[in-house]
Amino acid sequence: MNDRMQEIIDILNEANYNYYVLDNPTITDQEYDRYMQELIALEEKYPELKRDNSPTSRVGGTVIDEFKKVTHKIPMLSLSNVFNESDIIAFDERVRKEVKNPKYVVEPKIDGLSVSLYYENGEFVRAATRGDGVVGEDITHNVLTIKNVPLKLRENVTIEVRGEIYMDKDTFNSINEERKRNGFSLFANPRNTAAGSIRQLDSKIAASRNLKTFIYHLPNALDYGIHFHSEALDYMKRLGFTVNENNKLVDGIDGLLEHISYWTENRDSLPYEIDGMVIKLNDIDLQQRLGFTAKYPKWATAYKFPATRVLTKLKEIKFTVGRTGQVTPNAILEPVRLMGSVISKATLHNEEYVLTKDIRTGDIVSIIKAGDVIPRVEESIVERRTGEEIPFVMTDVCPICGSKLIKKDASYYCVNPLCDAKNIEKLIHFASRDAMNIDGFGDQIVEDFYNMGYLRSFIDFYKLKKYKSELMELEGFGNKSINALIDSIEDSKNNSLERLLFALGIRYVGNKTAKILAKKFVNIDNIMNSSYEELVAVRDIGTVIAKSIVEYFSNEDNVELISSLKEIGVNMEYNGPVEVLDDEFAGKTFVLTGTLENYKRNDLKVIIESKGGNVSGSVSKNTDVVIAGSDPGSKYDNAVKLGITIWNENDLISKLGG
Ligand code: IVH
Repeated sequence: MNDRMQEIIDILNEANYNYYVLDNPTITDQEYDRYMQELIALEEKYPELKRDNSPTSRVGGTVIDEFKKVTHKIPMLSLSNVFNESDIIAFDERVRKEVKNPKYVVEPKIDGLSVSLYYENGEFVRAATRGDGVVGEDITHNVLTIKNVPLKLRENVTIEVRGEIYMDKDTFNSINEERKRNGFSLFANPRNTAAGSIRQLDSKIAASRNLKTFIYHLPNALDYGIHFHSEALDYMKRLGFTVNENNKLVDGIDGLLEHISYWTENRDSLPYEIDGMVIKLNDIDLQQRLGFTAKYPKWATAYKFPATRVLTKLKEIKFTVGRTGQVTPNAILEPVRLMGSVISKATLHNEEYVLTKDIRTGDIVSIIKAGDVIPRVEESIVERRTGEEIPFVMTDVCPICGSKLIKKDASYYCVNPLCDAKNIEKLIHFASRDAMNIDGFGDQIVEDFYNMGYLRSFIDFYKLKKYKSELMELEGFGNKSINALIDSIEDSKNNSLERLLFALGIRYVGNKTAKILAKKFVNIDNIMNSSYEELVAVRDIGTVIAKSIVEYFSNEDNVELISSLKEIGVNMEYNGPVEVLDDEFAGKTFVLTGTLENYKRNDLKVIIESKGGNVSGSVSKNTDVVIAGSDPGSKYDNAVKLGITIWNENDLISKLGG
């Protein structure tokens, strides 16, 4: 009977190899099941003949009492991390100090959990987790259920290999779909689900989870006459292990960066999750020369992809009041790391944004960093709902002063002029870096000084020095820090006009518009005295901005504020370079085409802009002048067609004054 059992075991192991490693099935699922059933029946009849690593273990059912400890003969080290191109270059340079012309193998970094597999004479004996790197846990019963872990190698070697256990995306999604149907809570991600499956005492659970492995490391390669990691990968493949097909041997730093950037772009196309790329020096003798630090090999490192999106729980939606009085919903999040910082708050923009996306308190949400700075809630992960989530309702009162909000377009405003929140935000804005740049006035100090009554309006900044001795008594302040604050307040009096314009908080006047206004009008009186028509005539000042400026200066309180600031010594003039406007260029849009003999394109662009002109890349009816050098292209033809003024190089020289 032993012979028949051995025969079936060989057939099943061969079938697994053909299916999982070669991706070339040789028997049907029904045939496979039939052999399996026959083997199960034989093992029941002759239990003494049952092997520990029998293919029947694949179906699971072994229940252990506890995880036994396994001491790794060679420690299972983890890898150092690098996060950007210059870190990768620095790693390569460190390697180059010891090695001439290094070659590397670059491999996808599988997002799973590492495993060590041990075979004696080609027979699978034991699997262990990494644990603390020295002592791991025996997970043989669960790893036996992983179908692409060979139970018998194709050579009778005694060997330890290491790799990653993971769950592919499809399996993860279908497990979660089933859990949802059955009303169970959903799993967070494939990695945790794989790890949870491996930490089960009953192997039936792991067997039902369709776990897989990629094998990527042969700790004792030299003992097998192998001197290159790329050869070790080939050898492990020949033995019957699944080795990732996207591992690549590259020559030097260029090949390295290219392969990494390819997978940074294309990682989503893989059926499993990867969280980076592993870089390994290919030559194993040289690996030994480089050696290890206490924790990591010096011959390898892991490049971690920047996370652009993370999932976390939205714990609460809080309303805040901005300096314009606008009340906005904000997400208070369970803190998560994203692109190097910990995020616990994100913007939800406005009522409409939250309602159309149906974002609810209690949702698992994805957070992205918009424009790299302000994190925002992108969407709710509806599949992860438990039913406990609370739908969003916009508040109708100010969260600070309780007054009723007014709806204007899509936004809600607190119009109470005495609302503390609004006033504090205005003061914070006034002192902020892009505005008056009063060093030392962070959000907290402004709020504290406001609450103590020292700071109620912009003017109060400049009166603070009167209270110097009182302020010095405050906890956390000394002579030095108060002097520093007062100095920076005094310095701010000399700011160029655009800072003040931005600091005032005129609606729609951001720092770019403030600069345009300051340059154009040179001092604040000119702006205050400008009509709507004069403002709108300025390039880049649209109707909304112009209206808002006129409105601001028609308010008596604002006029009074400006005159008090002036009186106290705040500069109201533009200090920057004054534009030399030239009628031939100012306000006109130019397009350049063909080759010019006397000007480089970029230089000419700078010259035109310095004269108040604007350079655009394509010809349209808004183009004023096309400057055509020799061999002009289709832009010239278009200009002729549209009847646009064309200057040749001589025209240009004369317009520029020779
Ligand atoms: S090599 C001494 N290669 O990443 C070599 N590790 O952050 C040790 N990992 O602990 C590991 N894919 O769990 C290696 N292709 C790959 C990998 C990989 C995923 C994991 C592994 C390791 C961790 C280090």
